[in-house]
Amino acid sequence: MFRVRQNVLGINPYKPGKPTEELRRELGLEGEIVKLASNENPLGPPPRVMSALRAHVGEVHLYPDNSCYYLTQALAEHHGVDPDMVIVDRGSSGVIEMLAKLLVDPGDEVVYSDKSFLMYPLMAQTFAAAHRKVPLPPDYVIDLDGLLAAVSPRTKLVYLANPNNPTGTHNDAASLARFIEALPEEVVLALDEAYALFGEDLTPDYESGLKHLLGGRRNVFILRTFSKSHAMAGLRVGYGIGDPELVAQMHKVRAPFNVVSLAQEAALAALEDDDFVAQTLEVTREGMKRLHEGLRGLGFETVPSAANFILFPAGTAERAAALSDGLLRRGVIVRPMTAFGLPDHIRVTVGLDWQNEVFLEKLSLVLATEKAG
Ligand SMILES: Cc1ncc(COP(=O)(O)O)c(C=O)c1O
Repeated sequence: MFRVRQNVLGINPYKPGKPTEELRRELGLEGEIVKLASNENPLGPPPRVMSALRAHVGEVHLYPDNSCYYLTQALAEHHGVDPDMVIVDRGSSGVIEMLAKLLVDPGDEVVYSDKSFLMYPLMAQTFAAAHRKVPLPPDYVIDLDGLLAAVSPRTKLVYLANPNNPTGTHNDAASLARFIEALPEEVVLALDEAYALFGEDLTPDYESGLKHLLGGRRNVFILRTFSKSHAMAGLRVGYGIGDPELVAQMHKVRAPFNVVSLAQEAALAALEDDDFVAQTLEVTREGMKRLHEGLRGLGFETVPSAANFILFPAGTAERAAALSDGLLRRGVIVRPMTAFGLPDHIRVTVGLDWQNEVFLEKLSLVLATEKAG
C-alpha cells in the first residue's frame, strides 16, 4: 500500500547495544547491571554539565538557538578555526547523515571500509549510492590503499573512522597524510574522529586530520562528538569542521533547531571541563590495560585499541553468541558483532575498575560453565 523507496526496503535498521532496562525486563534481573556495550563514558555526566542543565531547564518552552551561535564560536576557538568552518548537529551521526544528504545523488559512489561504523552503509543505502566497501585486512587496520583504489570518478564521499569502531585500530599519522595527499580533491573525506582524544592519549602515532584541512586540503571534513570523551551520549551533540563553502551548503540541509537548548548549554560547559576529559582518559588508559591483561589471562587474543573499547575474537560465531548470552544472563552487557560483520568477535567498552572486574569475573564463570558443559 505504501510506496516506500526500494532501497529503503533493503535497509537493516541500526541496532544499538542493549539498554540496561530492556535486559532487566527481559531476564527479570535484579541488582547491578554492567553495560559495556555502547562505548559510553563510565564516569557519568561531567558535574559542569549537570549544573548547566539545572541552570537552563526553565528555558525549554523556547525554541533553541537555531544557529548554535555560542557553541559554534566556542568550538571554533577550541580548535583554532574560523566559526564558519564549524557545524553542529544531533550527534556526529547527524553530521554523517548531513554530508550524504548534501553530496550523494542516486548512483553516486560512497567508499568506506568493511567492519566500520554502521552509519556509513546505512547512509549509502538511504541515499541510493553504490556501495564500495573495502575489505578489512587481517590486522584489523583499515586499508587506506584499498580505499584509494576503490575511488572512481563517481565517488562523492569517503567515510573513514580513525580510530575505527568496532576494531579500535587506527591509521597512523604518516599513512593518513599520504592517503589525504593522494585522494582526489573533489572527493570529500568524512574523517570520523569520534574517538580522537582516546587515540591521542593511547597511541603516539595517532594524529587528527584537522591539520590537513587547515593546510589547504579543502576536501577533508572532520567529525567529532560529545558522546564519548565528554560523556554526553544522551544529549546528542556532535559537530563537523570543514571548508567554509561546504559548511555553508550543509546548513541548507540541516534540520531547523537541530540541537536542543539544553544540549547546547551542556556542550558549552563540557568544552571547558578539561579536568573531566583528563579523568576520562586516565580511567580509559588504566581500564584498557586491565582488560587486555584480563582477557589474555582468560585465553583470548585482543585487538590493539586506540579508543575506549576492545575487540576480541571468540573463535567462532556460535561461541561469541554463547559467551555474550552467558554474560547477559549474569548482568553484563557487551556487544556481539554480528551487525558489524564480525559474528565471531565481541566488543567490550572500557568501564570503571569495578565494572571491568565484574566483566572479567563473569566471563571466567561463563568459561567455566562452557568447560563443564
Ligand atoms: C566511529 C563513530 N562515529 C560516530 C559515532 C556516533 O556518535 P554520536 O552520534 O553519538 O555523536 C559513533 C558512535 O558509536 C562511532 O563509533
